[in-house]
Amino acid sequence: MKKTKLGVIGCGMISGAYLKAASRFRNIEIVAGSDIVPGRAAAKRDEFKEFGYSEETFRAYDANPDGTNAELLSDPEIEVVLNLTPPKQHSRVDLEILNAGKHAYSEKPFGVNLEDAMKVMKLAEEKNLRCGCAPDTFLGGGQQTARKLIDDGWIGKPLAGTALVMGRGPEKWPQAPFFFDYGAGPMLDLGPYYITTLVNMLGPAKRVTAFTKKFDDMRTGGPETQPPVYPINVTTHLTGVIEFECGALITMISSFDVWKHGHCPIEIYGSEGSLQVPDPNTFGGPVRVFRKGYEDWQDVPMPFGYTDNSRSIGAVDMVNAIKSGRPHRANNKLAYHVLEIMCSFDKSSSAGRPVDIESTCERPAPLPLGLDDGFLDD
Ligand SMILES: NC(=O)c1ccc[n+]([C@@H]2O[C@H](COP(=O)([O-])OP(=O)(O)OC[C@H]3O[C@@H](n4cnc5c(N)ncnc54)[C@H](O)[C@@H]3O)[C@@H](O)[C@H]2O)c1
Repeated sequence: MKKTKLGVIGCGMISGAYLKAASRFRNIEIVAGSDIVPGRAAAKRDEFKEFGYSEETFRAYDANPDGTNAELLSDPEIEVVLNLTPPKQHSRVDLEILNAGKHAYSEKPFGVNLEDAMKVMKLAEEKNLRCGCAPDTFLGGGQQTARKLIDDGWIGKPLAGTALVMGRGPEKWPQAPFFFDYGAGPMLDLGPYYITTLVNMLGPAKRVTAFTKKFDDMRTGGPETQPPVYPINVTTHLTGVIEFECGALITMISSFDVWKHGHCPIEIYGSEGSLQVPDPNTFGGPVRVFRKGYEDWQDVPMPFGYTDNSRSIGAVDMVNAIKSGRPHRANNKLAYHVLEIMCSFDKSSSAGRPVDIESTCERPAPLPLGLDDGFLDD
């Protein structure tokens, strides 16, 4: 099989997951990387040499000081570029990739504001190029099982539910200030996992009503955090209700202000039973269902593949979709809709009223049961 050649822009922490993917998914080959920190792309290649990366197989480029990546993007072999830069760079780098005539797949979120994300949507459409976006955890065995239970009517009509992602955030990490700055916070950093999973299970959202707060102005980091005390520039506690087109009302809390809680990440309450959905920042389980007439929750076996860490599966699905002409699952319409829902929490809180969601999207096609590892459905 002819392998599709990919390039990576942004050779930081998450790029390793994508470099490993090429050995799991046999139809892709990552042939180049570019990073704004001189030498970082080469260092990443060397770190992953056991996966077949060498000077012969992987061209390492330094980005230009202005953040553009002309050398990698002028490489005629590369068809698809993975944008693994920090969130504030996502839209600009996506535009750069598309303007170079290549398909773009970005890490989450799709952008840090709707205006920039819309520019990416429009350019992809104009140029007839694919544009995809993480998260792809909804393609994991845990989330696919939860979706199948809903689709097959195990809990009846979904009526309500909860999506709760609460903790102190990465406040002690060396790069903690980044997570408390504009473009991150609990919603833009973790919300993509939760809201993408909800849209995958329930379909598009209709409106959001919310209250959001920033309780403190400063946080104190850990021993390696620079600076040790840093400003908080985002709302750190967002609580609201998302009303979905299907009628379900999901209560969501996304917070960096909670020391401990004991709730399931996502629960869906239906007319015939309830569903416990696994952490959407993972690919596996557990998935548990309660049906009326039963005494307790039942653990559900997961008949889908990819229950281990399979980050990059969304990009591989996009590569396959380009070849076969079908829609790709982790696509820009889904990612834009998720971004609009996330941005609506602060918007609703500031306006003091519910906010209508203007965008919509299709639910991505489910994956087939029992896929062999390294294979998708085409
Ligand atoms: N680290 C994780 O565990 C993780 C998990 C899931 C998703 N993500 C997402 O992946 C993305 C990257 O996160 P990360 O943790 O790898 O960050 P990181 O800071 O470790 O890596 C980002 C890299 O991009 C480079 N970069 C920045 N601007 C650039 C430009 N204009 N051109 C080329 N290179 C540029 C940086 O130098 C850095 O090496 C983020 O969107 C994040 O939300 C990260």
